[in-house]
Amino acid sequence: MHLTLRQLKVFESVARHLGYTRAAEELHLTQPAVSMQIKQLEDSVGLPLFEKMGKKIFLTEAGRELYGYSNSISRQLDEVDEVIEGLKGLERGRLAISVASTANAFATRLLAAFSKDHSGVTVSLDVTNRRGLLSQLANNEADMVIMGRPPRDLDLVTEAFMDNPLVVIAPPGHPLGSERNIPLTRLQNETFVVRELGSGTRNAMERFFTDQGIRVTTGMEMTSNEAIKQAVEAGLGLGIVSIHTLELELETRRICVLDAENFPILRHWYVVHRRGKRLSPAAQAFKDYVLAEGDKIMPTLMTFGNSQP
Ligand code: PGA
Repeated sequence: MHLTLRQLKVFESVARHLGYTRAAEELHLTQPAVSMQIKQLEDSVGLPLFEKMGKKIFLTEAGRELYGYSNSISRQLDEVDEVIEGLKGLERGRLAISVASTANAFATRLLAAFSKDHSGVTVSLDVTNRRGLLSQLANNEADMVIMGRPPRDLDLVTEAFMDNPLVVIAPPGHPLGSERNIPLTRLQNETFVVRELGSGTRNAMERFFTDQGIRVTTGMEMTSNEAIKQAVEAGLGLGIVSIHTLELELETRRICVLDAENFPILRHWYVVHRRGKRLSPAAQAFKDYVLAEGDKIMPTLMTFGNSQP
């Protein structure tokens, strides 16, 4: 049997998602390229690896066997990679970090400050929403992750390093902008533009309103904080975002923060990795840096109403 690591990687992705389209997206390949790799792999194994029932695909018995082995081969390869990176030391190491879309507002700053003292380290930064981060942690795909509220069902090392207040935003001149301690019931009359399902901000917002017994009307759904801010500025509704995304808008007074009852929703930022992960010297140095300096990277932005500084 002749098979390549590339084919195993493609196979693993299709097997994990039980779908060619999602595997193609994950691997940045076209769907025909993915099908071709699987076909070649099946030819060299000599048995079908997937079977199709209705519109769904499933692993065959041979597919399940191969999946078990390919997972352990991938883990071994990751370990080799980590050991080699460790041997390169801090001078030429590599750091693969993934951050929540919202954390991108400060993560690039953290990386820039870290890189000043560690110019030999090659950094790759992946920005995705909470759901994407959970899948990367589950599949051991990132050295480290910066996220809000780590999941409880994975064996992780999690350390909080900075507060993450979520606030209600409105366009400048909004009638509620000049009010103080706005009762939450007043927000029931407003429409909210919201982040996509799978976003940590969206989860936190929904949990908060459910806990408070408040039903708000949700309008358009958007996949980035930038889009939410622009929509709010354009008058499409109110929004809820992390204060850390608002530095520029508050400075230029394009957005105002409402002083609503029980706000901000107080979340925290965590640096997270799998327990037992062998952190390379570069990853360890970055983690130490974030824990020591992370909370100084953002200015204090918490002010309310139409009269921002
Ligand atoms: P998000 O995550 O960018 O997916 O909303 C932020 C968070 O978890 O607080």
